[in-house]
Amino acid sequence: MTVARTLSVALSGVSGQLVEIEADLAGGLPGLFFTGLADVSVVESRDRIRSALVNSGIPWPNRRITLALLPADVRKVGSRFDLALAVVVLAAAELIDARVIGDVVWLAELGLDGRLRPIRGALPAVIAAKQAGVQRVVVARGNGAEASLVDGVDVRVADDLAEVIASLSGRAPTLDVARAGPPAEQPARSRDLLDVGGQAAAKRALEVAAAGGHHLYLLGVPGAGKTMLAERLPGLLPVLDDAAALEVTAVHSVAGALAAQAGLVRHPPLQAPHHTATVTSLVGGGSGLARPGAISLAHHGVLFLDEAPEFSAKAVDALRQPLESGEVVIHRSFGSVRFPARFQLVLAANPCPCGRRSTECSCPPQVLRRYRQRLSGPLLDRVDVRVFVDAVTHSDLFAERPSGESSAVVAARVSGARTAARARWLGAVESGQPGWRTNRDVPGTALRGGRWRLPRATLADAEAHVDRGELSARGFDRVLRMAWTIADLAGHTSPDANDVAEALFYRIGRSTSWAA
Ligand SMILES: Nc1ncnc2c1ncn2[C@@H]1O[C@H](COP(=O)(O)OP(=O)(O)OP(=O)(O)O)[C@@H](O)[C@H]1O
Ligand SMILES: [Mg+2]
Ligand SMILES: [Zn+2]
Repeated sequence: MTVARTLSVALSGVSGQLVEIEADLAGGLPGLFFTGLADVSVVESRDRIRSALVNSGIPWPNRRITLALLPADVRKVGSRFDLALAVVVLAAAELIDARVIGDVVWLAELGLDGRLRPIRGALPAVIAAKQAGVQRVVVARGNGAEASLVDGVDVRVADDLAEVIASLSGRAPTLDVARAGPPAEQPARSRDLLDVGGQAAAKRALEVAAAGGHHLYLLGVPGAGKTMLAERLPGLLPVLDDAAALEVTAVHSVAGALAAQAGLVRHPPLQAPHHTATVTSLVGGGSGLARPGAISLAHHGVLFLDEAPEFSAKAVDALRQPLESGEVVIHRSFGSVRFPARFQLVLAANPCPCGRRSTECSCPPQVLRRYRQRLSGPLLDRVDVRVFVDAVTHSDLFAERPSGESSAVVAARVSGARTAARARWLGAVESGQPGWRTNRDVPGTALRGGRWRLPRATLADAEAHVDRGELSARGFDRVLRMAWTIADLAGHTSPDANDVAEALFYRIGRSTSWAA
């Protein structure tokens, strides 16, 4: 009896693993059997494959068919193996030549009518195939654009199973080559800093946050432009380099969030989950093939928590580990799934739950305290830049000419500062250590001692605040970190007393101190 073999890819998070699929046709009671840790969702493909074959004009082999998915200890989830399973059954039944499918990876779901449907995570699957040395991949046409982003792999697309069978049996020309789509749109391009009237201090804080990769906290009265400011942060960040763009696009691929013909995601994404969002939608999970949550969709971009104190304690708690490690680990019954989640956090809050100005607010003290406490601790501890956003004045709003600078002008300064920081920290790294990309990543010990230690005179003011108990040791490190960013923006080789003074303002400046 014939044993046929072909290939597909199983996904866990954004990492794929090559799966070998074998089909064995034998005598005995007809039926279709699976071995090798196939999820129920894979077993369910039985009926789809049968219908798809029959509707493509192929009689179902009325034999005992055993399908093995190897390695047996890798969990296989979802309908993504449909096409590979159909093709390997055909080869085992000697309806096509088994030799032509042995080194091909198939990635598509089948419709009952035989149509090929796109799958989530085609991009990371093709990346994994390439890493495993595979050179030929077939996907549904809707996945063609993202699959073609991987260089050095011959990716073909098809619309239905009949087309695949015809080309495999040599009755039709080879399948179409997958074509790259145009780069994905920059969503923030339509939002410019020039739209925001006044708010010079808050805009400056936004620039500092952008330059150093610092997490940002905007506290202020309603309607002052906090949301407007936060939404303009991605537009100040540099475009993603190739590696980062591929990572971001892969996460969005697994989420099913890529437009069908769109190319690489080149711009830092913005995610702004609502405060009623579930923990699963924030951090990822769900049944079947795990979906990345908002924090992973914000990978290499911005996670904006508007009305931050309204987020549940559970949600806030779930952010703690990703903020620390840059990835999220989702524990499931059969093991854990990882997604990258290196995002820049922006929190916005009103000074009190009623949202009125302090002069009009009559919230009881205990209500105020509870509201403010929700943010303190794990989240705010990690936020470097804090700024109070004042009510916008009438003259700012109705100014003849836009105030301040455009996003493009600020982004150019941010880019220069980031380049300076990266060069400095790359040079600082002793062999074997990973380079810090932004000032946010630099540990306090590196800033306080040794080569990067600042002269006493420069730090006199900050140290006085520490002595008076107004600045914690952790806060002191954050001041140092921001001071370096402010120096990078100014083109200083190291921070001077003015740079430190501005950084101190973001730490202990007025009215944000309730959350220090
Ligand atoms: N500084 C500003 N310049 C121009 N328009 C502004 C400014 N601030 C607020 N607005 C206008 O008010 C609207 C609300 O602003 P935004 O949502 O950013 O305020 P907010 O501070 O986030 O308020 P809330 O605390 O209620 O969320 C904006 O869509 C814009 O039309
Ligand atoms: Mg708002
Ligand atoms: Zn109030």
